[in-house]
Amino acid sequence: MTESEDIEIVKKRLGRRSIVLVGLMGCGKSSVGKRLAFKLGLPFVDADDEIERAAAKSINEIFADHGEALFRDGERKVIARLLRNGPQVLATGGGAYMHAETRQSVRENGIAIWLRAELPVLMRRVMKRDTRPLLREGNPEATMQKLIEARYPVYAEADMTVESRDEPHDIIVAEILNRLAAPSTAQARTSQGAAPSRSVSVELGDRSYDVLIASGLLRDAGALIKARLGAVKCGVVTDENVARHHLATLEESLKAEGLFAGSIVMKPGEATKSFRDLATLSERLLELGLERGDLVVPFGGGVIGDLAGFAAGILRRGIRFVQIPTSLLAQVDSSVGGKTGINTPQGKNLIGVFHQPSLVIADTAVLATLPPRQMRAGYAEVAKYGLLGDAQFFAWLEANWQGVFGNNGPALTKAIETSVAAKAAIVARDETETGERALLNLGHTFGHALEAWTGYSDRLLHGEGVAIGMCMAFRLSENIGICPRGRADRVVKHLKAVGLPTKIGDIPGGRANAGELLKLMGQDKKVRGGKATFILVRDIGQAFVTREVVPETVKAFLGREIAL
Ligand SMILES: NC(=O)c1ccc[n+]([C@@H]2O[C@H](COP(=O)([O-])OP(=O)(O)OC[C@H]3O[C@@H](n4cnc5c(N)ncnc54)[C@H](O)[C@@H]3O)[C@@H](O)[C@H]2O)c1
Repeated sequence: MTESEDIEIVKKRLGRRSIVLVGLMGCGKSSVGKRLAFKLGLPFVDADDEIERAAAKSINEIFADHGEALFRDGERKVIARLLRNGPQVLATGGGAYMHAETRQSVRENGIAIWLRAELPVLMRRVMKRDTRPLLREGNPEATMQKLIEARYPVYAEADMTVESRDEPHDIIVAEILNRLAAPSTAQARTSQGAAPSRSVSVELGDRSYDVLIASGLLRDAGALIKARLGAVKCGVVTDENVARHHLATLEESLKAEGLFAGSIVMKPGEATKSFRDLATLSERLLELGLERGDLVVPFGGGVIGDLAGFAAGILRRGIRFVQIPTSLLAQVDSSVGGKTGINTPQGKNLIGVFHQPSLVIADTAVLATLPPRQMRAGYAEVAKYGLLGDAQFFAWLEANWQGVFGNNGPALTKAIETSVAAKAAIVARDETETGERALLNLGHTFGHALEAWTGYSDRLLHGEGVAIGMCMAFRLSENIGICPRGRADRVVKHLKAVGLPTKIGDIPGGRANAGELLKLMGQDKKVRGGKATFILVRDIGQAFVTREVVPETVKAFLGREIAL
């Protein structure tokens, strides 16, 4: 569709409603808003300017003379008045959308778009100006970080999220128009902005369970658990990052149903998947008084899911658990399928048990606070499902990936649902990985070796290793002549567009050595009889498992890959 066609559709869809831009100071509301209004032929209105005009004082003066509370009240009234004058593009102050009444009037009279930017981007833009009252005193960066923590979970209620990066604002405007004109946006709005809710069943006989996927599920976690698993006590396990943003909501929801036994907050990061932390955690879960019928509730990314799932698997010889995954990787992969475990100096995930959860609750809204790099890393696993067995899904991702990253929307829900359904189907056929489940390791043989080579450090996240590994699997398959030429390029093009690394040279710091990588591949737990297991491809969506690639071929291939 051309841009003018997009514009016509968007204008029709808006009717009398306004486009309301929300986000923190420095996210680009004014400059994006002005350009967007110009394209749509609508007036651009800056709520802060209107407030200044109404009060005949600058915002700084209103703050100084009357305090923040009075300012917020005035702001709420001005926005309610402006919203009655639609259609227009309305930029709101950073705190405006925090007001529940303002959110309600925006829902009734507009489409809210959150321009989401990362801390360094915001700081670079904001420090160029000095007019912001909230950043006047103390450490501006720490203040901004606090605002991010308090506000992002609320901004996530917007109808659409658009990443505001350091790129020309026209690109952001084009993305907004494109997404507002897309059919999925229309569907979302006709259901009063509610993101669709999905349920996928993992069929394992009497151990079958559901994976529930929707925006805002966290608030209902207590009721969902009680309805399905009874009046049980819940011991929540989380990490500091997730706790800071979301633990209060979960605790409240469990308390409201009388299910809350206590929360245990672990340090974030891969190092927590250790024997030492397992011991501490198991003892603390016992101290909470959890009995056989009760539940452990891992609430976090894959690290917390693997560790707390394992603890549940061995506590009192195995008690039930409900996964509430909070990273994209955990929502599409690690929370489903029952693999739990910890790391040892000998390697990753070498100690663990298969222990299936009784329920998985994936609230897509919590992803709003996930750092973008982690979001991209999780996306590698989403793309994996397309690449290993569903060419149509991969093509859909190529066309819709931006919607997937604009969280809280139908594209994100669809991507998660399709991924979970793919994993559920494979797990149902091969629960303990005697065959087909190995397909889920597409990109992992190379990826794990690269993770080990970088010392499981910040240089390479798991999903980034998988992204590079998948590109390598396609290149190797093309090299040995089993996959048509051009497929690897297509995979690389897509993952690059998303912002993922696609070759070893993309990993910062240090140059790899083919012999060393080959040795690390030999230490993978998927090695049998000295031969590494490879997942290769005949085409996009056609992966297969083989142990027939000779080490010499792999070594020569690795040499070429390092030089890429
Ligand atoms: N069991 C399985 O089948 C399986 C499958 C794939 C990966 N894994 C394991 O999963 C782990 C990786 O998982 P991960 O990528 O989720 O890592 P993670 O658990 O370390 O989470 C990534 C980071 O994001 C933070 N975070 C998570 N959710 C957040 C949120 N909503 N808001 C803000 N911050 C948030 C975490 O605190 C952490 O710093 C690895 O240990 C890997 O071995 C397991």
